[in-house]
Amino acid sequence: MIPLILYASETGNAQDVAERVSRSFRRQGRKVTCESMDKFQISNLIHVDLLILITSTHGRGEPPPKMLNLWKALLRKNLPNNILEDLHFTLFGLGDSSYEKFNYAGKILARRIENLGANKLCDYGWGDERSPNGIEDAFIPWLQQTLDTFLPYLPVPPDYRPISITDLPPPIYSLTPAASSSRSTELDIPLNKLSISPNTTNGHVAPTRVEDTLRQEEHGIIKPDDWVWVTLKKNDRVTKEDWWQDVREIEFDLEDKNLTPYLPGSICSIQPQSSEEDVNTFLELMNLEDQADIPITVQSVLEEQPLPEHLPPHDKPTTLRSLLTNHLDIRCSPRKSFFEWLRRLSLDEREQERLDEFIDDPDEIHTYATRPSRSIVETLADFRQTKIPLSHILEILPPLRRRQFSIASSWDAHPGKVQLLVALVEYKTNLKIPRRGLCSQWLDSLKVGTRIPIHISPPTLFLPQNPETPVILVGPGTGVAPMRAFVEARVKQGAVENTALYFGCRSEFADFYFASEWKKYGEKGVNVQVAASRDQEEKVYVQHLIKENKEEVQDWLIDKGGHVYISGSSNAMPKEVREALAWCVSKEGAGTLTEEQANEYIEQMFEDGRGGEESW
Ligand SMILES: Cc1cc2nc3c(=O)[nH]c(=O)nc-3n(C[C@H](O)[C@H](O)[C@H](O)COP(=O)(O)OP(=O)(O)OC[C@H]3O[C@@H](n4cnc5c(N)ncnc54)[C@H](O)[C@@H]3O)c2cc1C
Ligand SMILES: Cc1cc2nc3c(=O)[nH]c(=O)nc-3n(C[C@H](O)[C@H](O)[C@H](O)COP(=O)(O)O)c2cc1C
Repeated sequence: MIPLILYASETGNAQDVAERVSRSFRRQGRKVTCESMDKFQISNLIHVDLLILITSTHGRGEPPPKMLNLWKALLRKNLPNNILEDLHFTLFGLGDSSYEKFNYAGKILARRIENLGANKLCDYGWGDERSPNGIEDAFIPWLQQTLDTFLPYLPVPPDYRPISITDLPPPIYSLTPAASSSRSTELDIPLNKLSISPNTTNGHVAPTRVEDTLRQEEHGIIKPDDWVWVTLKKNDRVTKEDWWQDVREIEFDLEDKNLTPYLPGSICSIQPQSSEEDVNTFLELMNLEDQADIPITVQSVLEEQPLPEHLPPHDKPTTLRSLLTNHLDIRCSPRKSFFEWLRRLSLDEREQERLDEFIDDPDEIHTYATRPSRSIVETLADFRQTKIPLSHILEILPPLRRRQFSIASSWDAHPGKVQLLVALVEYKTNLKIPRRGLCSQWLDSLKVGTRIPIHISPPTLFLPQNPETPVILVGPGTGVAPMRAFVEARVKQGAVENTALYFGCRSEFADFYFASEWKKYGEKGVNVQVAASRDQEEKVYVQHLIKENKEEVQDWLIDKGGHVYISGSSNAMPKEVREALAWCVSKEGAGTLTEEQANEYIEQMFEDGRGGEESW
């Protein structure tokens, strides 16, 4: 019996937790399979005996996209209610109790699996980022209890030797010279180095160039199969030159002219690359420069453990440099698991002491790494005596995550193009060098004419089919991106006078995106409301303008069954907008509902799909 760990992660935390759970089982000599939920063959679930589910929650209590296929399959009405009776499981959720629907994705998943007859083997754990020690407060006791419950079901192998928490476990993935790739060859490779000369390996001539046929490659940029090539046509700053924030209007031309048109509200994913400077610094710090460009293949050493999706498939040669550039994240801030790895590798007493402090006290990690956004490369520069061996690099470095952007264009208004509105992330912390977002910096570096791959996913927000249905769109800042696509689609439908847009910026003279278009649409009859918060003494935000239009809100939402969409920063804005909408339809505003009824009404609209929110 091999336990299966399935995780659904959006920003990497649930994956990190899942890998920590796997390591704990493997340290006890037990086999385990750890996989992203979206890679798991759902029809195999009925053959699983022991299951550990790990998921975060996103949006307003939404499951991460990687849970959706499993979730939809579990919701199928024709499933017998004992279909999972042979399954024994537990679940750990990652969430943040400042959100209304704390750990909601985990809770609904656990409930549904129980309803299908599965047996809850031990208590669920609910990680809370607001807890004094973050998710660790719930995770540590949950993990102990899970191990205590699961291990007795799993026989101890005869050759089991206990591995202490500070010992380096055997690697689970291998990097093998491309010309001599095989499981047995890998095990001969010295732990600390892939000792092959650039030109010959085991008597074979190594390929001089990595051929990557499944994943096409251009100038080192890799295109997965289901992505499409685009050419960058525009990368223009749209905020005033002396404004604190650099926001770009980005336009791509889709190369394949036969693609099915995307719907308004669709999402564009972009896979950024690590900077050349970070990659070179990493290679230098780890003394791996001479290994950087040797063609290698990646393989799982363990039969029960598939390669995770962020790594190149086994039959496609790569190089260490390409792995660091395209697959592994050396710019993000290190998590606890990273310090645990360094502790296993460290031979220097002073560094070991410091690493122990990090492992024992999450506050230390917060102060050293999370708050100042110190990167993995910068951390390694502080722990100079500790070197990550090639053998474990794929386990230690987290995946380089793709970033999502709401598409700001509708297909009808801009056929064959994808337009984005991207705020470049740059901020200062107590570290000397200003922090720059990984994808922002990469996009900034792209010259017009560059080809890159993108992925287009369907929207999560859908306009009503009927143009007679009124629509209220609320999109402050870059949140206006999907709203622009919606306004274009509504105007095309002829739904002009029953469309309202609430846009928020700081100043009409500095960060008023798509200004000339709003003027044009306003003249056509769209109700365009602009809250320029700092253009007058009293701050004005979108929620204030919504309240000023209370009669229209009451008429459109209550009397005419209208829809409302909110998009933008996930700070207080979405909640305050919903409160403003509720106020409008209450007795206090222009309606007849009590405060409680009004709040319930607005909540129900979102439940029923007459409301949608996309925040990040
Ligand atoms: C569905 C969806 C749609 C999106 N649409 C858009 C869009 O239309 N336009 C857009 O610009 N973005 C959009 N985003 C956000 C986008 O995906 C990226 O998160 C964003 O561009 C930053 O990526 P990055 O790689 O540049 O930054 P990263 O390297 O990922 O760094 C971002 C991190 O830096 C930290 N940080 C940022 N600012 C500060 C600060 N001032 N102080 C301290 N820490 C800070 C935070 O931890 C933040 O998570 C969307 C996200 C989602 C999920
Ligand atoms: C935009 C956004 C929305 C979120 N929404 C919720 C939520 O509704 N409920 C909750 O409990 N946690 C919520 N969270 C917290 C995440 O679940 C938490 O950050 C988790 O560690 C993310 O794990 P992941 O990196 O595996 O996706 C949200 C986080 C973000 C960034």
